Amino acid sequence: MFRELCDYTNDPIEAMFVRLSGDPSPDKIDLGIGVFRDDSGKVPVMRAVRQAEQQLFARDLPKSYMSPLGNLEYCRDIEELVLGANHPVLLEERIVSAQTPGAGSALRAGAEFVHSLSEDSVVWVSEPVWGHQLEFFEKAGIQVRTYRYYDQQGSTLDFAGMLEDLRSMNENDLLLLHGCCHNPTGQDLTIEQWDSLADLVVETGAVPFVDVAYQGFGKGIDEDVAGLRLISAKVPQLLLTVSSSKSFGIYRERAGILSVIVSKDAKDIESVRRKLRDTVRQLYFMAPNHGAAVVHEILSTPELEQIWRSELDEIRHHVVSMRKAVRETIESANPGFDASFIERQYGMFSCLPISEDEQFLVEQHFHIYMLPNARVNVAAMNGNQSAKLAEAFAWVRAERPSRPQQVSA
Ligand SMILES: Cc1ncc(COP(=O)(O)O)c(C=O)c1O
Repeated sequence: MFRELCDYTNDPIEAMFVRLSGDPSPDKIDLGIGVFRDDSGKVPVMRAVRQAEQQLFARDLPKSYMSPLGNLEYCRDIEELVLGANHPVLLEERIVSAQTPGAGSALRAGAEFVHSLSEDSVVWVSEPVWGHQLEFFEKAGIQVRTYRYYDQQGSTLDFAGMLEDLRSMNENDLLLLHGCCHNPTGQDLTIEQWDSLADLVVETGAVPFVDVAYQGFGKGIDEDVAGLRLISAKVPQLLLTVSSSKSFGIYRERAGILSVIVSKDAKDIESVRRKLRDTVRQLYFMAPNHGAAVVHEILSTPELEQIWRSELDEIRHHVVSMRKAVRETIESANPGFDASFIERQYGMFSCLPISEDEQFLVEQHFHIYMLPNARVNVAAMNGNQSAKLAEAFAWVRAERPSRPQQVSA
């Protein structure tokens, strides 16, 4: 069976990492990976996480199976963290959640859940989109349509285009939104724009599917979920995925949630819970518990929660200062070029206004590796790396007159 497999092409993100690891240059730079690095280039483990782990080990906890819905205390903590403890959805008990192995699995399970209930549903995703997100829906058999979101050439949000495209949504279509720190662009919606989208969702009967992967990396822990809190209070039903990978720095421990918010007139929330339990069990049987247990330990221990909040605040301040430094470095190497978009955007990523061909040239000549759409991890760069990126950007711009200037979508 396996002998027959040939000419298999990696997906573009994996392919980039394969090229990166095969590049022998000692100067190669990885701006692709979506992790936070501190000044020393390390992916730090938070003090709150280490302390929570020690507390858990000291308690000699069991390791038997749990329900496929996973760690329900963790689910409740995350529901309260993202929605706020007094959100009407929680007070009215209209939410059902599963703990998943990260938000990646939650997206895949959410897509499966919807497809099994409504085969004709379409998902609307932003252009550009984080490629893995697209796969999760396609593999579940959901048709994908795109809406205009970001003008890469002008480095601006295209909200008018977004609204125009989304007016074609039908009842039960999914509208995929990023809670904050949009991946790949870093370009977020204002609260007024979230409000307009909520109205459009109510008008069309579509269902928002909000993916929160970077809470605390943008404006603040509560500020980053203001749009989610607003839309979930206004629309009848919603799907939600939340990742603890970045906000708690526990990437490989795999903790996240998939939540279904049902309408006030939903007939039987217990059936929704059973359906969700069957969906996740059929996909991966059961999520690992360690990451979820660590997060629950932090969020249920006031001193640990305080430490975690201040560590996350520090990370956010570092990201903001990196954005300022990268903007300044790019502008000083490219006189007259306005890189202010880098400071206006949120979270780890921004997309450089260069084409796919130019991105490839930068890879060949400068050994700088980016994800599709010239997505760079601004938060992972040190001073030398941003200087090298600025130099490479100046080089491709200077080379441009001899080549067509097309920016890849
Ligand atoms: C927007 C978005 N959603 C979901 C995920 C998946 O996160 P997790 O590590 O929890 O699977 C990521 C990870 O990069 C992401 O950027």
